[in-house]
Amino acid sequence: MSNFEDSLAVPKPEENFFLPQHVIENLERIKILAKRHPVNILVTGKQGCGKSTMVRQFAARNNRPIAVFQIGILSEPGQLFGEHRLKDGETYYQKFLFPQAIQTPGCVIHLEEINRPENPKALNMMFSVLSEDRKVWMDELGLINVADEVVFFATLNEGEEFVGTEMLDAALRDRFYVTMLDYLPPEVETNVLHLKTGIDEADALTIVNISNKLRNNTQEPIVVSTRHSLMIAEMVAVGSSTKDAFINSLQLSRDIIESVLLSLHVELGMTDKGRGNHYQTY
Ligand SMILES: Nc1ncnc2c1ncn2[C@@H]1O[C@H](COP(=O)(O)OP(=O)(O)O)[C@@H](O)[C@H]1O
Ligand SMILES: [Mg+2]
Repeated sequence: MSNFEDSLAVPKPEENFFLPQHVIENLERIKILAKRHPVNILVTGKQGCGKSTMVRQFAARNNRPIAVFQIGILSEPGQLFGEHRLKDGETYYQKFLFPQAIQTPGCVIHLEEINRPENPKALNMMFSVLSEDRKVWMDELGLINVADEVVFFATLNEGEEFVGTEMLDAALRDRFYVTMLDYLPPEVETNVLHLKTGIDEADALTIVNISNKLRNNTQEPIVVSTRHSLMIAEMVAVGSSTKDAFINSLQLSRDIIESVLLSLHVELGMTDKGRGNHYQTY
């Protein structure tokens, strides 16, 4: 565990990742600000709308190493820094990746699910690192200074089943620029599905239209993330019907999907008809 080089690599860029122009421009400005001092950015948006990919892409495009930390699972302050261990009857302090990463110039540090630590105190030591002094003292490690040009991205999932931004401590939130991401507009999502999976644009558009019907269903909205519409498109790319791809990707009854298809006037196709209840040995 003493060699972190593998964990601090520059990520590979993802092809066909789309962001609104103003978000891209803002990331460019963040880069300029980061030359003067470390910067914190909070990225909010629903599950699977591209938050983690954006952070990784920022590192990739700027040739910076990235380190990702799950804040949602932390239960005590200092837990990211290291821990006391026992070897041959002696205790010693094992340093973790986090202190290494924040002391690496230009490192992109991704703090996932910052609004959901198991214990809110777990963020206490993080607070000094994210606030103006950018340093933290630990008995075990001494004074740790955040290196030049480090950029902190904190992401949090928003939506019914997640806690909102207001749950993030106001003082902590005050130290972040905020970027709000949303699902892609239909024509861009269609293009992404086409480019990433190779299905034709008409099929891609059908998947996007169905996804949006489900997302916007007023009685019972169903979360279809971009990750999931891509999974569905991949199924279609290997021969599935659109209907089966939805049924086999989401927790969705045939009735719901059939009524959506009907409302969109999508032909159900001969192969789809009445196949659902036919059993065969496998
Ligand atoms: N704006 C986008 N452009 C292209 N692909 C996207 C976009 N948003 C999400 N995706 C795809 O969906 C997947 C999930 O995105 P991710 O960044 O993990 O979402 P989040 O972190 O918001 O949950 C990614 O692997 C990516 O391929
Ligand atoms: Mg994520």
